[in-house]
Amino acid sequence: MTFSVASIRKDFPMLAEKIYGQPLVYLDSAASAQKPQQVIEKESKFICHHYAAVHRGIYSLSSKATAMVENVRQQVADFINAADAEEIVFVKGTTEGINLIANSYGYRFIKPGDNIIISQMEHHANIVPWHLLACQIRFDIRVLPIDNAGKLIFEQLDKLIDSRTRLLSFTHMSNVLGTVNPVKKIIAYARQCAEKKKAQLHIVLDGAQSIMHQMIDVQDLDCDFYVFSGHKLYGPTGIGVLYGKKILLNALPPWQGGGAIIDKVSMTLAEPSIINITYENAPWRFEAGTLNIVGIIGLGEALRYVNNIGYQQISAHETSLMQYANQRLSTVKSLRFYGSDERQGVIALNLGDHHAYDVGSFLDNYGIAIRTGHHCALPLMNFYQVPAMCRVSLAVYTTKEEIDILVEKLQHIEKLLG
Ligand code: ALA
Repeated sequence: MTFSVASIRKDFPMLAEKIYGQPLVYLDSAASAQKPQQVIEKESKFICHHYAAVHRGIYSLSSKATAMVENVRQQVADFINAADAEEIVFVKGTTEGINLIANSYGYRFIKPGDNIIISQMEHHANIVPWHLLACQIRFDIRVLPIDNAGKLIFEQLDKLIDSRTRLLSFTHMSNVLGTVNPVKKIIAYARQCAEKKKAQLHIVLDGAQSIMHQMIDVQDLDCDFYVFSGHKLYGPTGIGVLYGKKILLNALPPWQGGGAIIDKVSMTLAEPSIINITYENAPWRFEAGTLNIVGIIGLGEALRYVNNIGYQQISAHETSLMQYANQRLSTVKSLRFYGSDERQGVIALNLGDHHAYDVGSFLDNYGIAIRTGHHCALPLMNFYQVPAMCRVSLAVYTTKEEIDILVEKLQHIEKLLG
């Protein structure tokens, strides 16, 4: 397919909306991307013609819906080059994926006195689950720092990893700075350090931001777990993916109890009753309750949509857009930028000393949607000593004209606020 941003925009009904009578300029795709018509229609068609409970029915409708859901599992595996569809667990999103790892892997493998490593640029979703767990298990959380350019000083892993380090959990791409971490290099280095220190180290990659911008090959990266959300990949909300190496997933206990994860349950009537439970293999042992069936179908369509355009074209468009945005935004005199120019997908900035909320509210009046605040990354705000930032984020449907509108309005706000 030849890339044309104009025709891509026609796929996204929301982009034709008006805000206060002005065309929507949606620059908040890093928080949640808009949905193409193909995803919307696929979900609607599934609800109208194919909907049934999955994994439970002998009737044909249920069997067909189950096959459709399991096909998406295979599609996800192919999308990120997992070795096996059974390495794909459906979760609500990145946050739930990390909570699953914390509550399953964490309880099984992390012991009091052990330690884990996260980085200073993590989203709260990759900090809080570990903190909650550490309050229970009493292990240490160590922090891999960043430099002023917003890059991980990963060489410090040699100092941070010792024989009791169980986990390194870090982001592929900063949701604030747009820094793309050289994850393959970092993972290889971490494994080398772990081998030297005789540590049984596992590695979690938070792919929430990277998945919409670049092709992921989990085998090539050699991470143990990779998590992402469907809604940032032009798919539905409430559906995400946890990838885990099969041997590891099957060594982990379920983290939520319920139906669908069970091999056998028996109980005695004697008091106290003895309950015996054995579980399904992964991934089903992690999918208690009724799945987000419609969300899974929508996710499958989103993957097809992205594949049809192709990451090569997405990346070429977004790279040229980012260069344009960097250059155009640098003409707004009082803008302050965070991180380095090598950013991908997102630009964090402040207009002089004005609070990000003020700038964001002014932009909203012009129909421009950006994210403002601490971006669920307070340690990063503390590092740059600001309470908040504005964040502009780009997607496959973003245009240079939208960047021009942003620049023009920022210049206007600059004059208004002084
Ligand atoms: N994690 C999302 C963001 O960075 C919500 O905006």
